Amino acid sequence: MKTLINILFSFTLLFLLSCEKKEEVTYEPNFAPPSNFPAIKYPEDNAYNYSRWKLGKKLFYENALSRNQTINCGSCHQTKFAMADNQALSLGVDGAVGFRNAPTLTNVAYQPYYNFDGGNQTLEMQVLVPIQEHVEFDFNIIEIAKRLADNSTYQNMSKEAYNRELDYYVITRALANFERTLISGNSKYDKYTREETPLTAEELRGLNLFTSTKTNCNTCHAGFNFTSYAFENNGLCKEYSDEGRARVTKLDTDKARFKVPTLRNIEKTAPYMHDGSKATLYDVVSHYNSGGNNHVNKNNLIVPLGLTQDEMNDLIAFLKTLSDESFISNPLFKNN
Ligand code: HEC
Ligand code: HEC
Repeated sequence: MKTLINILFSFTLLFLLSCEKKEEVTYEPNFAPPSNFPAIKYPEDNAYNYSRWKLGKKLFYENALSRNQTINCGSCHQTKFAMADNQALSLGVDGAVGFRNAPTLTNVAYQPYYNFDGGNQTLEMQVLVPIQEHVEFDFNIIEIAKRLADNSTYQNMSKEAYNRELDYYVITRALANFERTLISGNSKYDKYTREETPLTAEELRGLNLFTSTKTNCNTCHAGFNFTSYAFENNGLCKEYSDEGRARVTKLDTDKARFKVPTLRNIEKTAPYMHDGSKATLYDVVSHYNSGGNNHVNKNNLIVPLGLTQDEMNDLIAFLKTLSDESFISNPLFKNN
């Protein structure tokens, strides 16, 4: 009897607690991925919550992260360019020229590793790259924490989000928490797959070409996020100044292989490729149509395709269906 009362008591307590918790919840944006996407995996110590997200967003647009306090993450990952920029190579502090093209942060939550060479295993770890990189922030995360130590807004937000002072741990986690919500799944193509909107005849021909054995585009640009995440050489150059994947593995067989990029929002993220050397989608499709340059590590699917002008236009029309205006104009992601 005593145990039964205890159990009943615990249930009542639990019920009361859960009611109380519910009342505390303020408006939280719904960042759930669309029905045609898999669920997002958050690390155990960095589950999504709105306090963490708000802190991460504030840090994303914080100039104090850069040595001379002139640029922030959003300088190279701009909402209007689908969280990329429009430079071939981005500019860091004092106008230093970077060595790679800034990629889109569209759907980064789903990537198994980061950067063109896959050198970073988690979004939390990746944060250190732009902070330390001389041609980006040229700074140091310990110094950033010192700089913000007397800032009561940041300290309060940090306590609320992670129950500790703003330090290395909090800065990396909050930024990653924000980045994981950069989900884009409302393009015309998504609406087509959810049977909400039809594609035009031209776009459909492009989709069929994209998935055909004539082009093999979707062997590498595979699945809902249009990437296999493999490291491949697509014959972009004869000789590369960038070692690509070999920068991490030191293997000759990985030289000039780059992580296959997502094609989501591709219309918005020109110029293209790791070095920004292709200005337009037409240039990219012409590159593939030509079969590219010969390189020992070139994938054997990269061969002359024999596409007509009309077929090239169809492919481009399809690529443009991957633009998601609701992502680009989402006020939640903008610096406001
Ligand atoms: C000066 C421009 C610049 C700034 C500032 C910058 N980035 Fe980047 N970002 C890049 C470039 C260039 C790459 C590609 C680097 C590589 O592959 O080695 C990149 C890659 C990334 C990636 C990996 C994406 C992928 O597909 O693998 C993430 C995530 C990222 N940046 C987040 C951030 C965050 C967070 C900040 C702020 C702390 C930031 N970036 C600041 C230019 C910048
Ligand atoms: C063998 C694998 C492979 C195949 C097949 C392939 N790609 Fe790629 N694609 C890549 C790789 C790797 C990159 C990045 C190369 C780099 O940055 O140097 C890339 C880059 C791109 C880019 C630029 C992305 C960006 O953000 O800069 C576009 C657009 C693109 N591919 C479209 C296509 C189309 C269209 C086809 C079919 C005609 C195709 N790809 C076939 C591997 C492939």
